[in-house]
Amino acid sequence: MNDLHATIRTRLQSAVAVVLGDGYADTDPMLRPSANPKFGDYQANLAMALGKAVGRPPRELAEAVVGALDGSGWLGSAAVAGPGFINLTLADDALGSAAADALADARLGVAAATAAEHVVVDYCGTNVAKEMLVWHLRSTIIGDAVVRVLEFLGHRVTRQNHLGDWGTQFGMLIEYLSDLDAGPDLEIGDLNGLYKRAKQRFDEDEDFALRSRRRVVALQAGDPATRARWTQLVEASVEHFNEICGRLGVKLTPADIRGESAYNDRLGPTVDALAEAGLLQESEGAGVVYPEGFVDQDGEPMAMIVRKSDGGYLYATTDLAAARFRAEELGADRMVYVTDARQSQHFGMVFATVRAMGWGAGVRMEHVAFGTVLGPDRRPYKTRSGESIRLADVLDEAIERAGRVIAEKNPGLDAAEKAAVAEAVGIGSVKYADLSNDRIKDYVFDYERMLSLEGNTAPYLLYSYTRVRSIFRKGGVDFASFASDGVSVGESAERGLALLLLGFPEAVGSVAETLEPHRLCNYLYEVATRTHRFIEQCPVLKAPDDATRDARLGLCALAARTLERGLGLLGIGVVPRM
Ligand code: ARG
Repeated sequence: MNDLHATIRTRLQSAVAVVLGDGYADTDPMLRPSANPKFGDYQANLAMALGKAVGRPPRELAEAVVGALDGSGWLGSAAVAGPGFINLTLADDALGSAAADALADARLGVAAATAAEHVVVDYCGTNVAKEMLVWHLRSTIIGDAVVRVLEFLGHRVTRQNHLGDWGTQFGMLIEYLSDLDAGPDLEIGDLNGLYKRAKQRFDEDEDFALRSRRRVVALQAGDPATRARWTQLVEASVEHFNEICGRLGVKLTPADIRGESAYNDRLGPTVDALAEAGLLQESEGAGVVYPEGFVDQDGEPMAMIVRKSDGGYLYATTDLAAARFRAEELGADRMVYVTDARQSQHFGMVFATVRAMGWGAGVRMEHVAFGTVLGPDRRPYKTRSGESIRLADVLDEAIERAGRVIAEKNPGLDAAEKAAVAEAVGIGSVKYADLSNDRIKDYVFDYERMLSLEGNTAPYLLYSYTRVRSIFRKGGVDFASFASDGVSVGESAERGLALLLLGFPEAVGSVAETLEPHRLCNYLYEVATRTHRFIEQCPVLKAPDDATRDARLGLCALAARTLERGLGLLGIGVVPRM
């Protein structure tokens, strides 16, 4: 929240205290931007609920608050409308100087969080010996945006890639590799293929299946040759994920991997702890817990299996051990898991069990769930032959298509710049298309739409940014070092843009709170739209006088820096021209 917004809030609270007494000084003024400039710049809706609570007609209460309001230094006018809405219009000079403050601030008015937290963000979570597929994209991209926003607000973030690197499937993979006698420098070019071939052999060949099961035991017992094969598999996979992460420009690195295998020694003790707390029950030879609040259609409590009847542990056991580790040893204040919505029940049960065990008392746990990536036929995105689509191919195609869009738009760019812009726009478009959708919803993967220069797309936002940059180039003004003498606003397009830009801290804050990056996308889309409107309605380089030109350049610069910073928080880089 910037200073101006803080001022408005505190002045409203003081007015309430004058009217109702100091006991009401903490009242939430329920301040929001007006939907329609006709009703002023902001609306404070406190009178409705408060009037009811203290038994005064809301409209009369609103009038009294307005009467007691100290408007010095910020208020243009205040009026009461309807049942008791307080409509506030800022003074032009207050709005201009708030915009100038934001422009002079490298953080664009976004204050660091007053209570910094340690947040553990679990994302990516791909599986060894399987290629990273298009749905893994969602977790990686959403998780990366969440990490960037939290870090920008001053929180300490620990990234965790809960790599699927453990389990009985490794028995058959290792056995298969041994039969091939693949050397130590094995190139796992087709990781999916390896898994498929091993699985087929496992299903068809009894002797192989038996040897595979023995391999699982050998792996768990730490047999060196088996371990070496396992390491070989993990390393080849990590190299592959790392390459994709590098192309995507996400912050995740191999150092962030703490895979399922890392919790192997903690699984037994975790189940023991459940037993000691009296939460473990036997069900047909298996060890289960019944997390509070989970019942099936018949009202029967639902079980989460933590130990199979053969003594083996499961995905849930590993997640319990991991959650305990994060809460107690990493000392997390908040734990965030970015996976598809199909795992919602799993995480709900894990969280309930963690709470029942009192691990990391008071730790906030959230499942950042997301929907499915759909193909043009509105079914889960697959190739025509029904294969999953490879992420590397998706990125290649997006870059190639972006190259065509750019060549058409700006044939003058030289080859090297064109290639760099195509890369930025292509990758940015794939990411933005994902982030701009309300994450819980499925979305259709559509190259045409995501690469369109119109609408809520990366190319539109990037283009808006370059439009401002080209004004600076034409005017011979250095963009990076530009500092305005002051930002004055008068025209409605100027006011509209300045007001919106002052809302950047709230837009960023809402993502940190809800972990919904599309809120920031919607905000930036509005910034882009209002920037175009402003440029069209208010000549910048041809402004009537030097002071107006400088003020408008200031507003342009603030808009572009907000776009640049906002896109940066989404993991998307800008380009100076396209
Ligand atoms: N490897 C898992 C999967 O492919 C995702 C891991 C998510 N993180 C977690 N802590 N369970 O479904």
